[in-house]
Amino acid sequence: MAVRAVAAAPFLALWVTSAQQPAPPSVLYEQHIFAGGAAPPAGKLENPFQGDKKSAQEGEKLFAAFNCDGCHGGGAVGAVGPSLADGRWRYGGADGAMFHSIFYGRPRGMPAFGGILPPDAVWKLVTYLQSLQPATDAATVSWSK
Ligand code: HEC
Repeated sequence: MAVRAVAAAPFLALWVTSAQQPAPPSVLYEQHIFAGGAAPPAGKLENPFQGDKKSAQEGEKLFAAFNCDGCHGGGAVGAVGPSLADGRWRYGGADGAMFHSIFYGRPRGMPAFGGILPPDAVWKLVTYLQSLQPATDAATVSWSK
């Protein structure tokens, strides 16, 4: 526990600044079919750190410091929460979809982190998860409940 608290300390600064940043817009899911063919007003979110190794490393530290690994397992290979490293997504692996999953949470047990993490930190987590290479022999585990 003490180790966890020390590991989280550098991220407290991020937490303090998060309250001042406005919430990002809703995410447009281009692959969805909309009622009446009219897309709702929504923005297209793009990862500002796409492919950046340093951001991915910082995201990896955040993944442990904010206990994502407590549910998704070390290396995000899956535990009580689904694997985020097998290349399969329930809500999508695109920038905006992943941002939405982390910032706003998802209904079957994924907490919203937007209240404690500023958008930059969420994007670093997205960058880390996108840097994980799915194994060629990914197990066919069903994570749905
Ligand atoms: C309390 C357990 C828990 C914690 C802590 C948690 N998650 Fe989750 N997460 C889940 C569960 C359960 C789901 C599946 C939700 C669903 O299907 O509706 C999920 C879903 C997701 C998804 C969407 C996966 C998909 O297939 O589309 C992402 C991305 C994600 N989590 C990232 C994170 C990150 C990053 C953190 C840390 C900041 C985190 N999670 C912390 C339990 C957790």
